[in-house]
Amino acid sequence: MKNDFLSMREFIDIPDMSMHESIENFQNFIDQFEDKQTYPYGFMANSAVSKNMTIVDYYTKQEFETISFVSNNYLGLSHHPKVKQAAIDAIEKYGVGTCAAPPIGGYISIHKELEDKLAKLHGKEKAILFNSGYSANIGVFQNMFNKSDIVFTDMFVHASIYDGLKNNTNVKIYKHNDMDYLELILKRAQGNYRNMTIVVDGVFSQDGDLANLPAICDLAEKYGAMVFVDDAHGAGVLGKNGKGTLDHFGVEDRVDLVIGTFSKSMGTAGGYIAGSEKLIEYMRHYSRSSIFSVSVAPAIVAAASKAIDLFTEEPQHIQKLWDNARYLKKKLVENGFDIGNSETPITPLMIRDDEKTLFTARKLLENGIYVIPAIYPAVKINDSRFRVSITAQHETSDLDIFCKLLLEINQKYDLKLTN
Ligand SMILES: Cc1ncc(COP(=O)(O)O)c(C=O)c1O
Repeated sequence: MKNDFLSMREFIDIPDMSMHESIENFQNFIDQFEDKQTYPYGFMANSAVSKNMTIVDYYTKQEFETISFVSNNYLGLSHHPKVKQAAIDAIEKYGVGTCAAPPIGGYISIHKELEDKLAKLHGKEKAILFNSGYSANIGVFQNMFNKSDIVFTDMFVHASIYDGLKNNTNVKIYKHNDMDYLELILKRAQGNYRNMTIVVDGVFSQDGDLANLPAICDLAEKYGAMVFVDDAHGAGVLGKNGKGTLDHFGVEDRVDLVIGTFSKSMGTAGGYIAGSEKLIEYMRHYSRSSIFSVSVAPAIVAAASKAIDLFTEEPQHIQKLWDNARYLKKKLVENGFDIGNSETPITPLMIRDDEKTLFTARKLLENGIYVIPAIYPAVKINDSRFRVSITAQHETSDLDIFCKLLLEINQKYDLKLTN
């Protein structure tokens, strides 16, 4: 497949182009997909976001019934009757919104109860809520550091961490999971900054591999740095009863701050941070994305709270997630697909060619499989893949169909996706 695909990177920051010209020029990015009908941002569902989805074609408006692998609803809890009932009960009691930020009247007892539950989940003293994992990261990283500090971060951390860190402080990005280089830059920086902090994702969101938390905590202790972990994809998936990546590695006491989201295994939307009592109280006063934003809606709070209870009360969902993940990964590897170094249900099906990835996604959709092509800026240029999101909702037969269709499309169009 000839690769003359222009990525979004080629349409930003063009010298001498006015904002108006840039906007006009960007239409070329969208138009280039017309021929093969592969526009990657054109998907819309006419159904719930779930294991089976009805997708409306961007070009023809035709509907495709699909088995879907796009949602981070790992345990299927967004549709669990008890989670939905908890949300309905909260709406009955508290209405659909608070219409007030936490420090100006929007903080109610169910917020506090959920914060306590989250702190306990991660082995921490306290927690505070945010409207999303994204705004939790903005709240932490925008306000905690200044130019006398330095932050060391793995190159593959989530975009919200990068966005929070933008222009506030000194940032050193190290090669993915490269502990030797991390040690080198910590050693060089020691003594030159007010604070040093290492920031990682517990589970890396596009590759599904884990941060080497024991080694990171050893280095932090050796050089006097703090450790912050975004465990968006670890909670509900790893550790005893879904306690997450810190519990998985037994490092709860060695990590200063955990950032999380309700938008993955907890099946809803919203974010949080958990840490020591004093650190959380500090953030409660200085996290602008919490102070200046409405408090989390009651239905969401109740749904997240019930979802956390279910990690323990109904462990079968975590078990099924892992059984499904092991089954599909084994099948993909046996058939010669490259799935990178994933250690979790996030399965990157590596293609490393944007056009081929977009074309395959289109053909899969036409055959009833909905999977999202991950291209720049979600991943590095030339590192495109499918981020196959396996959940507890899938049945073995769904995974078999996915693999069979992938092989058929690969063969029919001679895509050379397998080794
Ligand atoms: C590692 C990580 N952190 C934060 C977020 C943002 O979470 P939310 O969807 O709650 O804004 C995501 C979402 O994809 C993520 O993968």
